Amino acid sequence: MISRISVVGLGYVGLPLACAFAFRSFKVIGLDMDLEKIKLLKEGEAPIYEEGLQELLKKVLEKGSLKITSNYREMVEESDACFVCVGTPANLDGSVDLKHIKESIEIISECLRRIDKYFLLVIRSTIPPGTTSNIIKKIVEEKSGKKLGQYGLCFNPEFLREGKALHDIFNPGRIIIGAVDKKSGKTLLDIYKKFYGEPTPPVLITSPINAELIKYANNVFLATKISFINMISQLCQRLPNADVKVVAEGIGMDKRIGREFLNAGLGWGGSCLPKDVKAFLKFGEEMGLRLKLVESIIEINELQIENAVKLAEDLVGGLNGKRISILGLAFKPGTDDVRESRAIRLIEELLKYNVRIKVHDPKALQKAKKILGDRVSYCKTFEECLTDSDLCILVTEWPEYKKLKQETLKKYMRKPALLDCRRLYNPEEFKEIKFAAIVLGPIEMKNSFTYRSYSSFHNDSYITFQEKI
Ligand code: UDX
Repeated sequence: MISRISVVGLGYVGLPLACAFAFRSFKVIGLDMDLEKIKLLKEGEAPIYEEGLQELLKKVLEKGSLKITSNYREMVEESDACFVCVGTPANLDGSVDLKHIKESIEIISECLRRIDKYFLLVIRSTIPPGTTSNIIKKIVEEKSGKKLGQYGLCFNPEFLREGKALHDIFNPGRIIIGAVDKKSGKTLLDIYKKFYGEPTPPVLITSPINAELIKYANNVFLATKISFINMISQLCQRLPNADVKVVAEGIGMDKRIGREFLNAGLGWGGSCLPKDVKAFLKFGEEMGLRLKLVESIIEINELQIENAVKLAEDLVGGLNGKRISILGLAFKPGTDDVRESRAIRLIEELLKYNVRIKVHDPKALQKAKKILGDRVSYCKTFEECLTDSDLCILVTEWPEYKKLKQETLKKYMRKPALLDCRRLYNPEEFKEIKFAAIVLGPIEMKNSFTYRSYSSFHNDSYITFQEKI
């Protein structure tokens, strides 16, 4: 039974995984080539923000169950299974850049040539269908001189949500294993049996190509759900008293549809959905297939930014000369990640006008600075961000922003106006200032109502502006 694990690539996927294995009585060695990151990690500092990660990192370092290195040979010698979690960024044309993963597989395989033991390679990085069997397997065999059976290989996609990565590692909905042979699949399953105990979470063992397709299809489907509800929201915005939140709730009550990923707003961002959707489109093209549905969901996602700019213009009577406060820069709450953040996209659009922009985010200011530079001003508190502004735009729905009151806006802003891009606020509570919410139809009828009688409904704050019976 394998109990010595290594993890290559200590980013948003690899670091939580390494810490989790180290916490659950595995001996773990984590490798990264970024020496600054290695230095921080050795000092017990997590280089990224992820709920619970800092504490867990400290704990496993103190316990001695996690070792950090930048030396591949040491890593291969001191482990029997390696989880490869290096980045697979997008090329300019949307296809996947496999440079990092190829490089690390080459080095691991060269190290393996000199070692006589069964070694399991587990690919966690998202890779286009066919990559495990057609590219990675070939590199391993060529560089290590070993044949299947002497080594093992699986594609084992991760479905972690950023901000909830540790929670999702300890409580996965399912485990998908794409194994090149039976022994590889069984070895990885045994690792998970040791990690989770039995019964394990639901497991599907299949071929690498199916597992690779599952990973892409999963993310493309999630993006499709969001774009679908955003399309409905475009209709709602044109219909008096229509509210996409209630529509989402209604269709979400159909178990075949489900309520999750039906939150309309600025669209999908982050390090995974945009990259994977574009890569899937490209993959289809390479297969001679135009994936029209995928083209459409990208188009709808872009429209939401245009839509927000238009709403902002209408709300304050043109953007020229306006001072704008942006609340939230992270691509979603609970993370400091700004990759493909809708906030950054929106700011880039707004900067095309003659505007001055101040920004605030509880965690992501540093990372946003690397992209936005001195084109905007960075504020440590949201009060500072609101001061003397003409328009406040709520972009990322951090829980602390929920507490924002009309009085605060009136106190600090030059001309109080609020554009809610995530439907965080109850319009009824902002009656004395200019208020608009993306994806909400114009409110005209005084007597419209929404009635609910099912018991699982908890939070009805957003419909209190409509009369209830
Ligand atoms: C996603 C997948 O959920 C996860 O399974 C995969 O492993 C990695 O990609 P993540 O990137 O962390 O996870 O973010 P997610 O919670 O999926 O949100 C992605 C984007 O969609 C965010 O910008 C979020 O604001 C947006 N979103 C999500 C919506 O606009 N509406 C929703 O209903 C849900």
